Parts: sequence; structure tokens; C-alpha cells
Amino acid sequence: MNEHLLGLEYCSKEEIESMLKAGFSFKEVLSRPIPKVPTLRGKTVVNLFFENSTRTRISFELAQKRLSADTVNFSASGSSVSKGESLRDTIRNIEAMKIDMVVVRHQSPGVPYFLTQCTDSIIINAGDGLHEHPTQGLLDIMTLQEKLGTVKDLKVVIVGDILHSRVARSNIYGLQKLGAKVALCGPPTLIPVQAEQWGVEIFYNIEDAIRWGEVLNVLRLQLERQHSGLFPTRREYAHRFGVTLEKLRQVDKEITIMHPGPINRGLELEHDLADSEFSVILDQVTNGVALRMAVLYLKSGVSTTEQAISQKK
Ligand code: NCD
Repeated sequence: MNEHLLGLEYCSKEEIESMLKAGFSFKEVLSRPIPKVPTLRGKTVVNLFFENSTRTRISFELAQKRLSADTVNFSASGSSVSKGESLRDTIRNIEAMKIDMVVVRHQSPGVPYFLTQCTDSIIINAGDGLHEHPTQGLLDIMTLQEKLGTVKDLKVVIVGDILHSRVARSNIYGLQKLGAKVALCGPPTLIPVQAEQWGVEIFYNIEDAIRWGEVLNVLRLQLERQHSGLFPTRREYAHRFGVTLEKLRQVDKEITIMHPGPINRGLELEHDLADSEFSVILDQVTNGVALRMAVLYLKSGVSTTEQAISQKK
């Protein structure tokens, strides 16, 4: 298994499968009265977050604590980055304090790869600009496997702001490698031109997408990344592309609703639908911790899964 996790584009089907399998083993650990194993005892992990985050950051930190790693949190605001320090200097100074792994989120695509070129630590991508968010892609697949058994031949529609979404890219690579059929749905202005080469169906009408799909992975409209009018008004977007119970009721089948969070309730997803029986949104969050434990463990290079999930010291 290649030692960093930069994106699902660079992972084989077998690597993805082994991370998912380990994710389910760690989920069992999390259901124990003491949800903690000594797997990464003595290892030091730095969480290097240059961009805002709630779920991903807390999820990685909890995963590290559940594995008994020592963790250090860095956020760009309040650090020497605001005094003009370069990224290379920041990481080399942190590494000089003897660390083993770095979990990085950054607004620029390619930063995790850049870090692999200037340090010896293992780098895990927690979201780099519009590029990839591999652990989100993996936890989404894990949640689908848990609910539906397999993703092979499953029809998954990714809805909304594909243009600005690293979650969409990681989902497409991961799902396609495991044999799922993927479609995109949104206004043409939010679907990148190169999407036609991704081997996906494209729908510009949400009703058609709902008729085709079994799963809707609804994305947040990333308003902070949009600098020009890519859709007329929020109201019109909600009307045309917002996923609502009424639109789901037009088809006579069970649909699973996912969302990576944070949700703009009432915009891309109807308020009550997010909490309905269709939704697996909180399962995604729960599975995120187990899946990130799996990734940290497998990338750290320590021993076998049986040892990893055993409580013996
Ligand atoms: C996503 C992200 O930051 O890429 N959120 C997440 O990690 N759960 C998606 C988003 O911000 O909309």
C-alpha cells in the first residue's frame, strides 16, 4: 500500500477495499465500553488545518485519540504563517520536533503532494482545494456498504455544486473503482467541462436524476468559492435543484440521501429531509471516525489488524 493518502485517484481497488474493511473492524472497536486501542501508542500525528473545518478535524482528532496516538493541532490563524512563513519552513520546523504523520487541509490543490516532497512524514489529505477529500469519499462508500451491502452496480447521483467539490471527485474515483455507476446533476454552470471525460451520466434536471438513481449525495453550494453569478438566485436554485420530499415522492422506490456537511438547510436539501428516514447523514459522521482510524492505522505501517483492534498491551 502506498504510504501517503493523497487521493482515491491514486489508490487501487484493493487498497480502497482494505481501508473499508479495516474501517468496519474499527467500528466494532468504537462500540466497546472502552472505545480505545493502543495501536498508535508512541506515534505523533499533527493536524495541519489551513482551512475551516468542524467534522473532519474533530473526526481525525478523535480517531487519533481512539488509537492512542499523541496529537498536536495546528491552525493557520494565530501561527507564524500570518507572519509570512513559507509552507516548506512551517512543515520542516514541525517535523524537526519528531513527528510521524501529518493530516493536512489546505485551500490549494496539491499541497499534500508538496508536503511529501519536503518531509519524511506520512501525509494524509483532509481536503486540498478543489482536488480531493479521500477520507470523505471512503466514509461515504463505507456508509453505503453498511446500509446496502455493496456499491457494485449501485446508481449514485452526486447533486449540486460539482465544480467546487473535492468530495465529488473523491466519490467518483472511489465509487467507480468499486463498480458503482455514477451520475452528476446540477445546473450546467456548476458542472465542470471535463466531467464528460469522467465516465459519468450527466443530468441537468433533478427529476430525471431521481428517476435514475438509488442514492443522492447532495453537495453544499460552496458560496465562499463562487465569485460570479453561477445561478440566478438561491430561491431559484432551491426550486430547481433542491432535493425535497415532494420530489422523492414522485418515484416509487427507496432512495438514500447523503450529504458531507455542512448543510445549507432549505437550499440544496429540504430542512426535514435531512433528518428523515431517507437520510444517512449522521451515519456518515459516525463512520468517519472508524474509517479515519483505519486510514491512520494502515498508513502508519504498524503490524496486523488483529493486533490493531486488540485491547491487550
Ligand atoms: C466538505 C469539505 O470541506 O470539503 N465538508 C467536509 O469535509 N465534511 C464539503 C463542504 O465543505 O461543503
